[in-house]
Amino acid sequence: MSTPDTPLGPRTTDHGPRSFRTLGIESSCDETAVAVLEADGRVRCNLISSQVAAHAPYLGVVPELAARHHLETLPRLLAEAEREAGLGDIELVAVTRGPGLIGSLLVGTCFAAAYAWARKLPLAGVDHLEGHLVSPFLSLDGAPAREAPDPALTLVISGGHSSYFLLAGGDARPLNRTRDDAAGEVFDKIAAALGLGYPGGPAVDRLAELGDPGAFAFSVPRIKDPTGALDFSFSGLKTNAIRTAQELTALPLPDPANPPQAVLDLLASFRRTVVDWLLAPLDELVARHQPQVVAASGGVAGNRELRARLAAWGRSRGIEVVLPPVALTTDNAAMIARAGQLRAARGILDDPRAMAAYPRAAWKAASGPGGKPMFPKL
Ligand code: KG4
Ligand code: ZN
Repeated sequence: MSTPDTPLGPRTTDHGPRSFRTLGIESSCDETAVAVLEADGRVRCNLISSQVAAHAPYLGVVPELAARHHLETLPRLLAEAEREAGLGDIELVAVTRGPGLIGSLLVGTCFAAAYAWARKLPLAGVDHLEGHLVSPFLSLDGAPAREAPDPALTLVISGGHSSYFLLAGGDARPLNRTRDDAAGEVFDKIAAALGLGYPGGPAVDRLAELGDPGAFAFSVPRIKDPTGALDFSFSGLKTNAIRTAQELTALPLPDPANPPQAVLDLLASFRRTVVDWLLAPLDELVARHQPQVVAASGGVAGNRELRARLAAWGRSRGIEVVLPPVALTTDNAAMIARAGQLRAARGILDDPRAMAAYPRAAWKAASGPGGKPMFPKL
C-alpha cells in the first residue's frame, strides 16, 4: 500500500523509494534552464537560454539584468518544455535554492514554488553544487541516470569551485579546496586580460589547441598543510601568465580571433599547468579513499585537455573515469532535476510557501580529510 500523495510530504511505496517524473529549474546565475527527467533519470528535455549577449557589453554578469532575463525567459522555456516533453504528468518540481545571485535565485524559486503549489506537486530545493555532483551520472543519449557507485571521488571545477568531493553513504564531503581563485575563474581572468570575452574558458581551451604546451614553464605552488589537505592555489599562476603575456604583446590583443603564435603557446602552457595541478592530488586521494570511480563536473570539466588527461589517467590505473556529456558540464537544469529526484527519494522535500533562497554556500568547506559532511543527504 502506498502513502497518500501530498505536496509537502514524501511519497513512498512498499517497494522502496519512489521515483518521480521531474521538472527541473535552474536560474542561479546567467543561464536560464528548464529540464524534464523521466522517473529513471532519463533526460527527456534539457533547455538552456544563455544571457551572455545581454551581459557582454558590461564585461561581467549584471545581477539586476540577470534577474529580469530569468523572469522573461522562464515562462517561454516552460512552454517549450510542455511542447517537447509534456508536463501533464510531472510528479516533482526541483529548483536551485543557492548559492548564486539572490535576485536570480528568487525568480527561480518563486516560479518553481508557485508552479508546485498550483499543481499540488512536491517541491525539492536543491543546492547548485549538488547538481554538479550528480551530473556525471546523467546521459544525453536516452539512457537512464546511473546510480553513483559508492564511494565515488568527484572533482568539481567551475567558476566557483575547485574541490575533490567524496560521495559515500549518501553524503558528499569536500576533501580539499582552492586557497584563492577557482579554476574557471583563472581561465576567465586570463581571457579578460587578453580580450577574449566572457566566459573565457571555452575560448582559451580552443586557442590552446593551436599552441605548444611545452613552450613556457610555469611553476605551481606546493601547499604544505599539516592536515594533508592537498589544497589548490591558482592566483600566482594567473598573475604569472598575464605578466608573461604582457611581455609578449600589447594587451588586450588587437585581433583576439588571431593571436600571435607566442600567445597560443602561452595559452597551451597555461592550460597544461592548470590541468597538471588539478590532477596532482588524484593518486594520493585514490590511495586514501579507494573510490570505485573518479568523476569530474562543472564548466572546466568540459576542457579538452582535462578530459583527455583524466581518461588516460583512469586507463593507466585501471580505474573507471566518469565524465558528463560536455553539454552538462556547465550550468543546466537536468542536473538540478536529478538532484531533486535523489532528495525526494529520501523524503527530503520543501514547503512551497516557505522555501528560502540563499546567496552564499550553505556549508563550510572542510580543508582536510577529517572535515565535516557538507549538506544533508545527497
Ligand atoms: O559550472 P559553470 O557553468 O558555472 C558555475 O557554476 O560556475 O562553470 C562556468 C566556468 C566558467 O569559468 C568558464 O570559463 C569555465 O567554467 N569553462 C571552461 C570551459 N568551459 C567552461 N574552462 C576551461 N575550459 C573549458 N572548455
Ligand atoms: Zn555551476
